[in-house]
Amino acid sequence: MKLTSVTYTSLARLDLQTDDLEDIHRSAREHNALDGITGLLVFNGTHFLQIIEGAEDAIEDLIGRLRQDTRHTGFEIRDRRKVEARSFPDWAMELVRVKAGYFEARETITDRLPDSVPEAIQARLFRMTELISRMEFPN
Ligand SMILES: Cc1cc2nc3c(=O)[nH]c(=O)nc-3n(C[C@H](O)[C@H](O)[C@H](O)COP(=O)(O)O)c2cc1C
Repeated sequence: MKLTSVTYTSLARLDLQTDDLEDIHRSAREHNALDGITGLLVFNGTHFLQIIEGAEDAIEDLIGRLRQDTRHTGFEIRDRRKVEARSFPDWAMELVRVKAGYFEARETITDRLPDSVPEAIQARLFRMTELISRMEFPN
């Protein structure tokens, strides 16, 4: 069965606390385990970058909930594609906290990624990480 993989970026609510981040992560893993969704969530202190993969219906439902979630704004889909296999089969949702600077962020992600993640996915992840490291706060 074909799966859908979506990559998006967003801006965290400005007063987001560590507790909020932990709540997001916990509920994401719980929901995703039931919904057959896997992926990773990168947070660099101001912006999110998330890859979600699963059955098309489940992904569309999640996108609907994400768009409504006031803990972030500026939700923007950067990539959407059909895939044959999951890139993160063992991650119901892995949270990777990174530094704001691109090179440090890239190093942290490289350390965390399983060797099995395809190079094309790694490359997309690095491009998106660079993008969020360059994004500025809205005035
Ligand atoms: C940055 C971010 C990432 C999230 N990732 C997920 C996720 O992977 N899976 C999920 O079910 N909910 C995720 N959520 C939470 C959803 O937006 C939503 O609150 C949750 O699915 C519960 O929805 P409900 O209250 O309508 O049941 C995320 C929220 C944020 C802000």
